[in-house]
Amino acid sequence: IIQKIRMFDSVDSTQNIAQRLAEEGAEEGTLVIAEQQTSGRGRLGRKWVSPSGRGIYMSFILRPGMPLHFAPQLTLLTAVALCRALRAIAAPLDIGIKWPNDLLIGGKKISGILLESTAEEERLRYVIAGIGISVNLTADDFPQELLDIATSLQIELGRPLDRADIIAGFFEQFEQLYTIYQKDGFGPIRMLWEALSVTLNKPTRLILSSGETMATPVGLNEQGALLVRKSDGTIVPIFSSEQVPQG
Ligand code: BTN
Repeated sequence: IIQKIRMFDSVDSTQNIAQRLAEEGAEEGTLVIAEQQTSGRGRLGRKWVSPSGRGIYMSFILRPGMPLHFAPQLTLLTAVALCRALRAIAAPLDIGIKWPNDLLIGGKKISGILLESTAEEERLRYVIAGIGISVNLTADDFPQELLDIATSLQIELGRPLDRADIIAGFFEQFEQLYTIYQKDGFGPIRMLWEALSVTLNKPTRLILSSGETMATPVGLNEQGALLVRKSDGTIVPIFSSEQVPQG
C-alpha cells in the first residue's frame, strides 16, 4: 500500500504535512514519518506526547473513494491492523483495543489513531490516517498526569523494540485487511475487532453529547458504530463518544 515515504526530523504534526501533500495531489499510499512532533495532536483536541526518536509518529494518505459514512470503519480497520502487528512483535504483551481505536496494555494506552477525512458531495476525497505509538518511551517522557493512563512498549516489555519492524509489520497487516475490506466489506473486520476488543461486555460509563449514562457494549454494527445495551435492555448505536471504563 505504501508508495512513497517522506521522512522528517521534526514537524509540527505529521497530520498537517500529509494533509498538505494530499491537497497538492499526493497519491494514496504516501507516508509521512517524523522523528519528533512539536504539536502532535490526538482526538478531541488532546496533545500527543512525541519525544524525539523514541516513538512512531506517522500519517498516510488513503483515497478510498467511498461514501463519507465509511470513515469509522477505516478507523476500526486501522486499529485491528495495528493491534495484530504489535501483538506479533511485542509478544507476549496482551494488547487490546478500546473503542474506538486506542490500544491498551493492562488498561494503559500505548497507541492512538487519528483519522481525518475530507469529503466532497458526501464522498471521501482523501483520508489522513495518523498513528502514534509509544515504542521506546520511558516514564520520564510522560507528563506526571499521564503516568496512570499511558505506558510504552519498552516499559511493559523491559526492552526496546525496533521501530522499523513495527512500521513494516503494521503495513503488512493493513494491506491484508484493506484488501479483504475492499473485497468483502466490513464483516470480517468487525469480527476481528470484536475479538481484540477490551471494551465489550463490561458495563461502562459513557459520556455522550446528551449526558452521562451506564451501558454495556455488546458489539459493532455494520457502520462501525458501537452497540451498547442500556439499563432498560434496549440496544442503541453510539457513533462518537468518550467512554470511561469503571474501575
Ligand atoms: C488519539 O489517541 O487521540 C490519537 C493520537 C494520534 C497521534 C498521531 S502521532 C502521528 C499523527 N500526527 C499527529 O499529530 N497525530 C497523529
